[in-house]
Amino acid sequence: MDYENILTEEQNGILHITINRPKKLNALNRATIKELHEAFSNAKEDHEVKVIILTGSGEKAFVAGADISEFADFSPEEGRELAARGQASLFDFVANFPKPVIAAVNGFALGGGLELAMAAHFRIASDNAKMGLPEVSLGVIPGYGGTQRLPQLVGKGRAMEMIMTAGMIDANQALQYNLVNHVTSLDELPELAQELAQKIMKNSLVAISGAIRAINANYEDGVNGFEVEIGEFGHAFGTADFKEGTDAFLNKRKADFPGE
Ligand code: COA
Repeated sequence: MDYENILTEEQNGILHITINRPKKLNALNRATIKELHEAFSNAKEDHEVKVIILTGSGEKAFVAGADISEFADFSPEEGRELAARGQASLFDFVANFPKPVIAAVNGFALGGGLELAMAAHFRIASDNAKMGLPEVSLGVIPGYGGTQRLPQLVGKGRAMEMIMTAGMIDANQALQYNLVNHVTSLDELPELAQELAQKIMKNSLVAISGAIRAINANYEDGVNGFEVEIGEFGHAFGTADFKEGTDAFLNKRKADFPGE
């Protein structure tokens, strides 16, 4: 598939999606958001794709935010629509994606960039990464889920401080804040992402989808996560992966999950 603003490459079950506007520090314009939506939609249907690694091109930025030049003259109604459409087509879509999504944060992850990384199922970062939600410095607030996902990950007080000061934290502070799970050098970031993806792929991806839904249920209004967990747990018993996983264990062999 040819895209203008992103690169996609599938290798051994891992789909690498790279946001590719390095001259603009990979800022998310509308076209990029649309292409990302398309790439994720295709990945959802593609049985070859087991895990997705999302990163930015170049050595400076994951994504330096939503493209400011596109919304500078927006009306309140247009602003509302921008946030609503972006959340539905990309940020919530990624957060609820049935296959694991790892964000490999390779530099600045600011505004919409950090919001995209936070929508991923978990994050790893290179030691040059800088993260923040600087929207209030522009007279606006985070609109792609940042006011909700940042406190979920780092706690309310830290989120309040980061958003109010519009400041950036470095990779080690992000690690301390539980915003990222691992920090490594920029050179080793792709390898670490790959290693994690490979570890994940040894397991039942059907079961992983159920776990994603159950974990996410904890953050949905009016949904009882424990009930969702019970439903997903029961559902797993009817899958071929469960038969294979338990049979492999009982017969002291490695499981070869059919993914069904
Ligand atoms: N939207 C649009 N363009 C952006 C952008 C964004 N969010 N972030 C960076 N760019 C563009 C710059 O305008 C510049 O383009 P130009 O060369 O055509 O002038 C190019 O990317 C390089 O950025 P520059 O600012 O020159 O790099 P820097 O190393 O001096 O600074 C940052 C890096 C990340 C500190 C700075 O680019 C920045 O503050 N960006 C905006 C961050 C932000 O507020 N994001 C939240 C948006 S809601």
